[in-house]
Amino acid sequence: MESVPWTTSCLALYPGEMYWKARYPKWVYSAFLFVLLGHSYSSCSQITVDPPHNLKIVDPGFLGHLNLQWQPPLTLGIFQNCTVQYELRYRNIDSEDWETIVTKKLNYEDGFNLNQGVEAKIQTLLMGHCTNGSDVHSKWTQTSFWIPLQGEPETKIREMQCIYYNWKSLHCTWKPGEKIPEGANYNLYYWYEGLDHALHCADYIESDGRHVGCRFPNVKHAEYRDFNICVNGSSSALPLRANYFSFQLQNIVKPSPPEQLNLTQRKPEEFHLEWKPPEGPIPSQCLAYEVQFQEDGASWLSRSTEKEMITLQKSNGSRRFCVWVRDKVNIYCANEGFWSEWSSQRCLEEQQEDGQWLFFIFIPVILVMLNVILVVFLFVQKQRACLKQILGRKEVHFYQEAIC
Ligand SMILES: *[C@@H]1O[C@H](CO)[C@@H](O)[C@H](O)[C@H]1NC(C)=O
Ligand SMILES: *[C@@H]1O[C@H](CO)[C@@H](O)[C@H](O)[C@H]1NC(C)=O
Ligand SMILES: *[C@@H]1O[C@H](CO)[C@@H](O)[C@H](O)[C@H]1NC(C)=O
Repeated sequence: MESVPWTTSCLALYPGEMYWKARYPKWVYSAFLFVLLGHSYSSCSQITVDPPHNLKIVDPGFLGHLNLQWQPPLTLGIFQNCTVQYELRYRNIDSEDWETIVTKKLNYEDGFNLNQGVEAKIQTLLMGHCTNGSDVHSKWTQTSFWIPLQGEPETKIREMQCIYYNWKSLHCTWKPGEKIPEGANYNLYYWYEGLDHALHCADYIESDGRHVGCRFPNVKHAEYRDFNICVNGSSSALPLRANYFSFQLQNIVKPSPPEQLNLTQRKPEEFHLEWKPPEGPIPSQCLAYEVQFQEDGASWLSRSTEKEMITLQKSNGSRRFCVWVRDKVNIYCANEGFWSEWSSQRCLEEQQEDGQWLFFIFIPVILVMLNVILVVFLFVQKQRACLKQILGRKEVHFYQEAIC
């Protein structure tokens, strides 16, 4: 028994097993195995190390960004000279999977959903040379954390929607809870990495005297990191249940629509469309486009592209061709996002072109005709005035007649 290997390999069986199996009834063999395993276990637990102690989940008030902290094991036993590592596992209580981290540090930070509890467990881990190649680990030590729950669940805000318009201005809107006390109101707090404390919304959107949204100030450079929001509330009667949200800004962008669409027909059977990305901070290589086109009022057809132009085939015989484009942040820059509104529509119509041509011929003709009418009208007026004069005064002057 002097060569019992460490930890899990403690459960390995030994060569003597075959001998016992052959000569004794099964129950003797089982009993032996039981004793053997029991012994192995106890010798294993003797040689494992202590777990870390004082595992804590600390909430620094960042609305979901928590700090997991622990202290080294009290003793390392025979492994005094080993480098100590820790295997940390943590999750929101409702989630199936644990996040697993191996670290030499004594703390770790990550984002959590505070609408749920959080649990974490940790064990000491020794490996490599100083354990003669085998992995030695301690038992797990575990802890959990809940934000104190206040108020009824029905007092929580509903249908929270946050949109980062054109990668520039962030708006969130929500609906009040189904059952909220008279005179109660909501407050929004937010935090992202780089702020040293959570901030209160400074520009609320209101409806019926109640806060139902927030217009954020400039949150530039807060992309690609957790953006945490808590909407809690106050009322004189009952507390309101807080609701927590977390997202990353680049994933909730709704760009402005593409601009300056230019639709041309270079060949009889195809159209060429070009456009410009919307003005603003979105890098043009971060946009994907959807082009929709329609011929003679038939149903709209879609094409996707990452470029700022597209060539579209025209069906034989169609006379009216319409097109519009919308954009979205692409998969290279975000995991998700919202489509923009459609751009203004551009149409080319063969009939309309004929009409325009006629229009330009007709304008001068009409102008000339108007001129003729005007001249005739003036002439008639003058004739009438002269006639009046002649009839009004009996003494006709020769020189007056000459003027008329
Ligand atoms: C590793 O093996 C050596 C030689 O067999 C032994 O002296 C040493 O005590 C072992 N180390 C540990 C941590 O048991
Ligand atoms: C709402 O949350 C903020 C930020 O965590 C906190 O400072 C404030 O006290 C909370 N208000 C209520 C009424 O719970
Ligand atoms: C249009 O008609 C020509 C000749 O009949 C044919 O070759 C071409 O494929 C047609 N194009 C389309 C888009 O239907």
